[in-house]
Amino acid sequence: MIRKVGSNFFLETKNNYYIFKLLPNGYLAHLYYGNKYDENYKQKCNLNIRRTGNTVEYSQEFPYSLENIPLECSSYGKGDIREPLIVIRNHDGSNTSDFVFDSYQIADEKEKLETLPSSYNADGQLIVNLTDRYYNLKLQLFYSVFYESDVIVRSCKFINTSDKDVKIEKFNSSLIDIYDKTFTITSFFGNWGNEMNKHQIKLSAGKYVISSYTGTSSNRNNPFFMLSDDDTTETNGQCYGFNLVYSGNHYNSIETTHLQRTRIVQGINSENFEFEIAPEETFETPEAAITFSNTGFNGISKNMHHFVNNHIIRGNFKNSIRPVLLNSWEAYYFFINEEKLVSLAEKSKKIGIELFVMDDGWFGRRKNDQSSLGDWYVNWDKFPNSLEGLCSRINDLSLQFGIWVEPEMVSVDSDLYRCHPDWSMEIRGKHHSEGRNQRILDIINPEVSNYILSSLRRVLSSCNISYVKWDFNRIFSDMYSPYLQNRQKETAHRYYISLYKIMDTLVKEFPHILFEGCAGGGNRFDLAILCYFPQIWASDKTDALDRLRIQNGYSYGYPLSSYTCHVSICPNHLTRRTLPLKTRFDVACFGNLGYELNLNLLDEYELEEVRKQIEFYKKHRQLIQFGEFEREDYENGLKWSIIKDEQKIELIYHQDRQTTEIKVNGETYE
Ligand code: GLA
Repeated sequence: MIRKVGSNFFLETKNNYYIFKLLPNGYLAHLYYGNKYDENYKQKCNLNIRRTGNTVEYSQEFPYSLENIPLECSSYGKGDIREPLIVIRNHDGSNTSDFVFDSYQIADEKEKLETLPSSYNADGQLIVNLTDRYYNLKLQLFYSVFYESDVIVRSCKFINTSDKDVKIEKFNSSLIDIYDKTFTITSFFGNWGNEMNKHQIKLSAGKYVISSYTGTSSNRNNPFFMLSDDDTTETNGQCYGFNLVYSGNHYNSIETTHLQRTRIVQGINSENFEFEIAPEETFETPEAAITFSNTGFNGISKNMHHFVNNHIIRGNFKNSIRPVLLNSWEAYYFFINEEKLVSLAEKSKKIGIELFVMDDGWFGRRKNDQSSLGDWYVNWDKFPNSLEGLCSRINDLSLQFGIWVEPEMVSVDSDLYRCHPDWSMEIRGKHHSEGRNQRILDIINPEVSNYILSSLRRVLSSCNISYVKWDFNRIFSDMYSPYLQNRQKETAHRYYISLYKIMDTLVKEFPHILFEGCAGGGNRFDLAILCYFPQIWASDKTDALDRLRIQNGYSYGYPLSSYTCHVSICPNHLTRRTLPLKTRFDVACFGNLGYELNLNLLDEYELEEVRKQIEFYKKHRQLIQFGEFEREDYENGLKWSIIKDEQKIELIYHQDRQTTEIKVNGETYE
């Protein structure tokens, strides 16, 4: 699957080749990424280096400009003025780098990243070792092949083999130049309650950037995007798909250059980023996942869904059906107590719910969003028998029990803040711009991450907890890590190195717990979170018609098993729109189903309808959560279908009538 033929490296997946070449000057030229059965692929591999004026020649022996060569790796200073892969500030103050080929290895196994989450079970890995000609620095390029998924994963590592400190000013994970082609980009933008809006635009010149600077992968611009031919549809045409295994600030730039060529880089956002690397130290980038399809956008989704389900999600819940849950948030918000929850649980049990989730409001002195984050002990007024008492009453109903936490945060009005004001990320003595009355903990400080670990360990082992919803409800402001002091440009990235360590420890210590990611809905919906948590709350917007669009957006890059969808009460709490219970179920059914409403507000006919919905969902959930998903080009709304083992389920949304319809093997389900 990975081989070197002459000076060419071949990476092969089920349908595709990724090919690049070692040039006489030690640089790597990208030759081809596309379908391996394309009869013109050999011709497309011809490297026709053009010579143009007003450029610089690399050297006398290699009198071409790097700017005119499709590259696999690039930096500043030797003639390539396009977006670089890496920018190093050398010890002498220069930022010219000249990384050239040194050696390569092909391994059957893929190396795990040391500081960041990574994909696993690859069908081989190529490591290309580059050395800077003048500064004694090393750069490794990693290429992993996922044959069945048709995905290539790239990442890089910088190694300071010199005896001087250097600084990394920019370090992307992947750089690809695709020649003689311009693209239409499809990306997904939004905000709170309005995630994953699909946006398409033809790129013809200049740089188009999809990035985030919220401190999260963000609902503003999800790191997943596609580049396609202008006439590509859901079912036909060529398309590339890109994603990043990273939850922090990301940066993706698609640069259409003077010769109608396209450079794509994906990686960490270099805004307010700089890393000091001492001799012998290393720095690794997040992984970038790349795929190609000649069967339209559905081909990209199929590849990415397979990749996420088999090489990102891991642990006990990999490819295993997810429980139908009832969540207390839209039922009671903060106003919960043992009696209210037990009575809701009793009703839940009767209609077929499997997992009962107590959302926000159970800890410290929490009665609204103004206090207690960080104080992870039960509120005795609301729960006189502690979590244990509540949990055993829920378990006695043969329901699993789950809780909500927001461990990365602290309220100023909390015992934790009063004891450790220096544990919060803020500029001491200066005004702090607040977000939802809470601040972010400086988890880079090991004392703080140990506190989070020990408080969660205590809570999670206090009773029989089967599920945890892990929230993150604000974005970064006044960013300052008291712990890092004069290395503040490392804060945003180091935050995630620490967070991943915390998540990794907990999911390993509590492998039986189903963790669900959340960040005010989808403000941190990405492949890195999915490496730890097998599912994520897609959006706080539960209005079924708005949700259709949001779930449609996620479906391009993420499998249905990765997002959760709830039926809520009407009029909807955010939009005030009233829609039939059937419509609300039909939409929530296409994902991991849950209910988030006060069942006491439903009459007996509605409760019976819900009972039947859950029965229907349980019967088909293996198909829904893990079948092969497709969208159809449909002018009057949306059409989705899922196929597995000769079973087919469809959702059709008729926009003119604002109605939904579910079909199972062609028969309408009423
Ligand atoms: C966020 C989540 C909601 C709910 C609240 C609780 O907004 O997205 O689902 O858990 O927090 O405060």
